[in-house]
Amino acid sequence: MRPNILRIDPGDIDDVLIGQAAREIQSGGLVAFPTETVYGLGANAMDQEAVAGIFEAKKRPLDDPLIVHIANRDDLSWLVEEVPDEAKKLIDRFWPGPLTLILKKTDRVPDIVTTGLSTVAVRMPSNDIAKRLIKASGCPVAAPSANLFGRPSPTTAQHVIDDLNGSVDIVLDGGKTDIGVESTVVEIVSGKVIVLRPGGIDVEELRSVVGMICVYTEKEVITKSPGKYPQHYSPLAEVVIVDDDPQQVEKVLLEAHEASGRGLSVGVMAKEEHALEYEGFHCKVLGPSIDARACASELFHVLREFDKDDVDLIIAEAIPEAGIGLAVMNRLKKAAGIGT
Ligand code: TXA
Ligand code: MG
Repeated sequence: MRPNILRIDPGDIDDVLIGQAAREIQSGGLVAFPTETVYGLGANAMDQEAVAGIFEAKKRPLDDPLIVHIANRDDLSWLVEEVPDEAKKLIDRFWPGPLTLILKKTDRVPDIVTTGLSTVAVRMPSNDIAKRLIKASGCPVAAPSANLFGRPSPTTAQHVIDDLNGSVDIVLDGGKTDIGVESTVVEIVSGKVIVLRPGGIDVEELRSVVGMICVYTEKEVITKSPGKYPQHYSPLAEVVIVDDDPQQVEKVLLEAHEASGRGLSVGVMAKEEHALEYEGFHCKVLGPSIDARACASELFHVLREFDKDDVDLIIAEAIPEAGIGLAVMNRLKKAAGIGT
């Protein structure tokens, strides 16, 4: 009977339940747990068989490396050879939190975790349930997002169950995640900070701590980071994006009428301020366009909800790419298959 779903109150974390999940990790099992970004699918990073189970459960290609999660900064020296100055500054400011650093790995990190790369991705989450689980497990926890490969990342325990029922041992249900898009992934090359994936920490925040920042285009990321695919985070429905400009509503309506005319079941993912314009259409609100954080926290949930409603085509209004809006649009473009 899998999975065992354990409800945990984030405001009053039950150590007995954390202990049960930690023992599952120690004995080679798979535990889905909330982080501040999305739910992760965790296993003991030092246990190659357990890590292989992550790839199998997610149907994830074996060339897509995992993030290793730690609960103490001191654990980093065990995993990586060196921590460049720029990385130290980022860690001081953003850990624990939604920032993943790519650093040169030690031989202790199994190749299956990094898919044979000489670097390892490390992050210290700020979510208390995640922190307590990693501490109690007593090992670094390898965890990708707890969705089937290619699907929108899970922001609730139900999303995890919808995708991975039957292939995960325990799901820690700590409610809806806070940020809603994944961590920012950066690497440091000759003192320059390179953003490989925009995420929960935005570029402006990074810039407040380190001088030289470069955001890679998806083409550059794909050549750089194996396992990166232009189509990702996809609902079953087709997604088209309508640019963020003054004619946005008219363009959405044109597209929606045309697709309905072809017999398609259409969903409109709208900015809050435009929602009333789409009366008569199946419309879901992403959030106010001035509040990219609100939009980030709803994005994956709304994409999944449209699937539940059997929509054929999602017409999505683009939001400004400022702040975390950059991460929202990055995920939305991948959902639309125009990630490059
Ligand atoms: O917020 C998050 O980061 C969530 C939570 C669970 O922590 N995790 C997550 O993991 O999003 P995942 O596996 O879905 O995405 C990790 C990304 C992948 O796209 C992978 O290609 C990249 O990090 N990555 C991992 N190791 C890498 C490495 N050594 N070099 C370059 N990219 C790497
Ligand atoms: Mg993922």
